[in-house]
Amino acid sequence: LTVKANTRKATIQPTMWGIFFEDINLAADGGIYAELVKNRSFEFTTPMMGWKEQSRQTGNTLILNRGAENPANPRFARQGTNNSIQAELVNAKGEVIGEASVTVSGGDWKKYTVSFTATATEAKAKLNVWFDDKGVTDVDMISLFPKNTWKNRPGGLRADLVQWLADLKPGFIRFPGGCIVEGRDLANRYQWKKTVGNLEDRQLIINRWNTEFANRSTPDYFQSFGLGFYEYFQLAEDIGAQPLPILNCGMACQFNTAEAVATDDLAPYIQDALDLVEFANESTTTKWGKLRADMGHPAPFNLTLMGVGNENWGPQYIERLAIFSKAIKEKYPAIQLVNSSGTDPVGDRFDYLNGELRKMHADLIDEHYYKPPEWFTQNARRYDNYDRNGSKVFAGEYAAHTKLTNDADKKNNWQSALAEAAYMTGLERNADVVYMASYAPLFAHIDGWQWAPDLIWFDNLHSYGTPNYYVQQLFSVNKGTAVVPILSGSDVIAGQDSLYATACMDEHTHELIIKLVNTAGKEVVKEIALEGVKQLAAQGVVTVLSNEQLSTYHSFASPQVIAPKQEAIPIRGKKVEVKLPAYSLSVIRVKMN
Ligand code: AHR
Repeated sequence: LTVKANTRKATIQPTMWGIFFEDINLAADGGIYAELVKNRSFEFTTPMMGWKEQSRQTGNTLILNRGAENPANPRFARQGTNNSIQAELVNAKGEVIGEASVTVSGGDWKKYTVSFTATATEAKAKLNVWFDDKGVTDVDMISLFPKNTWKNRPGGLRADLVQWLADLKPGFIRFPGGCIVEGRDLANRYQWKKTVGNLEDRQLIINRWNTEFANRSTPDYFQSFGLGFYEYFQLAEDIGAQPLPILNCGMACQFNTAEAVATDDLAPYIQDALDLVEFANESTTTKWGKLRADMGHPAPFNLTLMGVGNENWGPQYIERLAIFSKAIKEKYPAIQLVNSSGTDPVGDRFDYLNGELRKMHADLIDEHYYKPPEWFTQNARRYDNYDRNGSKVFAGEYAAHTKLTNDADKKNNWQSALAEAAYMTGLERNADVVYMASYAPLFAHIDGWQWAPDLIWFDNLHSYGTPNYYVQQLFSVNKGTAVVPILSGSDVIAGQDSLYATACMDEHTHELIIKLVNTAGKEVVKEIALEGVKQLAAQGVVTVLSNEQLSTYHSFASPQVIAPKQEAIPIRGKKVEVKLPAYSLSVIRVKMN
């Protein structure tokens, strides 16, 4: 094999490897948003869902609805009490493991806060809130947060889960979806303006991933929007990722309803897009810029990317997109727009959209593929002959779905991760057309998921990264700045002898980075000639992910079976001998002196 280090093939975008966050599998409410109380404001369709009235004393709970005067937050609970409310945390045995009380007074709405330290850790504690029977108290929101949130922000995010994202060093974060952007119907689409400002004014909606949505009798998966657009921008900034918000294009999820707004009525949707740029970037003297400042961030969020539509299809999408694009580009020509060509292939839908979007000179086309592992290895050359002029590619959602272990859970096994690694070498090799890529979905709660496989699994206390996570991480933290050729003879390495490879330079650190994937079940030894370099360090570092069983996957009990292992690798003059273990991804970094 030969690396031609002085042949700069393509610039690797800083956005190359990113993440896609969607509130699916309890990723936000019940997940990264650290709120511990479900239905905290009695706004679920069944107002007392999750709550149970207990009568230690007398007193009935009455749910009052002031919908006409406060449509975003109509319900509150009327209880007994005159001045003291007591809160208790209770473990599975019914024992109290923490308690506190607050004294209430006056006749207006006020926020009361109290903190206490629990005496034990409990995965599924209950919160009791006791009122006495001497008077009347109205309660609008009952909330409980751990103290150690991400960056210790009150009402913030689960620190352990955000850390997984930060450790990926993602180039971008696409949010908030996915299908939830579209909604099962337009009434339940994602509207960013309803997710910013005071928490109590953020009107919750049924999550599109609520499995009971169809009959609407007992939905229990809602979006509270405690994690709203301000928090998404803040998260992006925290982890050094460019924000990529996706907006509804005037169409609901076509897998559910074919509901679309008439093109004559698109104006408010487009206004939402324009106002979002104002919210993220414009001066604090503007209406939306002022809201950003009032929420605590006077400096701009530097939004440069925006998506319109997700997996929408047909001429209806193209028609609406054209109106959106014209309006956004007229006012904000520097914003790069991401358009969706959906899941490949669904009939000829994908090809039609791709063709139309390229004719429209789309900046970036968002392609999705959820496929068997074989598809990923067979498609490592997908972009080798792609048109170099015109629209760039955003592989916005992908994951290898394996049936190797024949389990219905579609585990994130090593076979799936290795196939993704092989495919990702093809994405990096083609960095002149592939500008961005993200695995999907990102998170799943072990007790409440709708979709698998997923990159990171968690319960109420713990979390673990899948083998697929470590593949993503190795590519991302070894991103480099420019692709250089790595060849077998004169051909790129994309399947010969079950090997897949890509090489790049990090022009900031003066390092050569080589990624090699061995999809064979036996060790492969290769010598790589490193051409076009003046001098190399006497040794480099190789980081390896490997396992001899393709069916291996992680669990809470075994969360690190396939985790990166590092060792030194000798460089002999301008040659390096690599021993690629069976079923492995190896990343070599060598300093160029
Ligand atoms: O990632 C899960 C879903 O897959 C996304 O919401 C959607 O865009 C795709 O169909």
